[in-house]
Amino acid sequence: MAKHDSHRYSRFHVPGHAGKVPSQEDERRYFESIRRLDFTELEGLDDLHAPSGVIDEAQRLAAIAFGAEESFFLLNGSTVGNHAMILGTSSPGDLLLVQRNCHKSVLNGLMLSGVRAVFLMPRIDQQTGLMTGLDPTLVQQALQQYPEAKGLLLTNPNYYGMGTDLAAISQMVHAHNIPLLVDEAHGAHYGFHPDYPPSALSALADVVVQSTHKMLTAMTMGAMLHLQGPRVDRTRIKRILSMLQSSSPSYPIMASLDLARRNIAIEGHRLLDNTLQHVYRLRKWIDETTPFRYIKPGMDFETLDPLKISLWDSTGTLSGFELMTKLRHYGCFAEMADTRHVLLHFGLHTNEEDLIRLMEALTAISLDAFSEKKENSKASENIYAIQPHPAISIPVSFGLPVERVASPTQLRIPLTKAVGKQSAEMVIPYPPGIPVLYPGETISEWAAIYLQELAECGATFQGLKHVTEFGIPIITPDVENK
Ligand SMILES: Cc1ncc(COP(=O)(O)O)c(C=O)c1O
Repeated sequence: MAKHDSHRYSRFHVPGHAGKVPSQEDERRYFESIRRLDFTELEGLDDLHAPSGVIDEAQRLAAIAFGAEESFFLLNGSTVGNHAMILGTSSPGDLLLVQRNCHKSVLNGLMLSGVRAVFLMPRIDQQTGLMTGLDPTLVQQALQQYPEAKGLLLTNPNYYGMGTDLAAISQMVHAHNIPLLVDEAHGAHYGFHPDYPPSALSALADVVVQSTHKMLTAMTMGAMLHLQGPRVDRTRIKRILSMLQSSSPSYPIMASLDLARRNIAIEGHRLLDNTLQHVYRLRKWIDETTPFRYIKPGMDFETLDPLKISLWDSTGTLSGFELMTKLRHYGCFAEMADTRHVLLHFGLHTNEEDLIRLMEALTAISLDAFSEKKENSKASENIYAIQPHPAISIPVSFGLPVERVASPTQLRIPLTKAVGKQSAEMVIPYPPGIPVLYPGETISEWAAIYLQELAECGATFQGLKHVTEFGIPIITPDVENK
């Protein structure tokens, strides 16, 4: 691309901006350099859907860097990767074992493919009440109970950086000669430094999806799908990917994927090391001088990403949402919050200045917040005292939910009355985008209490506003029979 750009050809092709300097000042400031790189499938620039030139070379280099046999660039994030992973490994009616606390893109993939899913309940961390990763013993049990399963799909690490013993699970799954499919959206930086958890590819997972834009340096939406081993039909996955991805993939995003690969392959160890030093210093400072605490390695997960700090207020004054708002007030935007934690994400380029700003913010917050002496009852509640879902669900048939959704306003009922009814929609606190309910799921007591608590603490839900005021959309018998 750089070579092509250096020729300064006259452009008589899409995109419409033709790489010209924008006429408006703000557009010029932000888009001038990006426009220059925004090409299309021209001679010498290859074609993502039939790569044989620079894109092919970039994907091959990615496979080498990440330890895959084949790698593919994704232009719609891990979202499209998860869809392709499911559609590429199962057909309608097939049975997949799926970790329950999966991202909405996994559930949407199940709906698109029309598979049956058996959900496996992850472990619950006793310290924090958070759902972590799968217990290998449960996986073994599910594999025995459902020998017809076409694969196991799990998320590792979770949003908070907690992970499971992937190597053990991989061995079990492969003993049944089915593929291990891993949503490693939050772990693209694994495998490049010994002080970080091992990557899914090193645990011999067959298909791995990574958001290169999350923990590495690609532009937003830049992600990768990696393949290895003999258990998946690669031609099928490639075809599905080609069906799902745009026929006009963004060259700036593809270039950023190639550069992110180069960055981690060449400088990864040094950069990961630098950030680790910052994080160690910050953790020590938090422990020694503040009332804040953060999630530490625990009994109910095997690995913890050092680049995620999930901070909480040990005095019980501030909920996670309140702490996040206060941090914002002092100029620090966090990744997300829940009722108790604020999740801080550190990247390859976290620097001294970021660290000092964060320390100043936390110092100021502890001075003003704790003088208020407000009791935050919500922050310490452990909602997970109730078992949220069965350890191994019965098979759930998925399909497109469109015909089920009638007028949501007519069908909304208060959360307190919703237990035992079927949810008409996917209910997704965002972030993290992990659905509490999928369409058709029976609303459990846990789900009703959890949603109420989240809403009261100020969580936002995708597609579902004012859940406490207007209630939750349910499927009525009328709608079911339509
Ligand atoms: C676990 C998990 N999987 C998949 C995704 C989707 O990733 P992307 O935003 O790259 O499409 C996310 C996004 O937050 C996620 O948290």
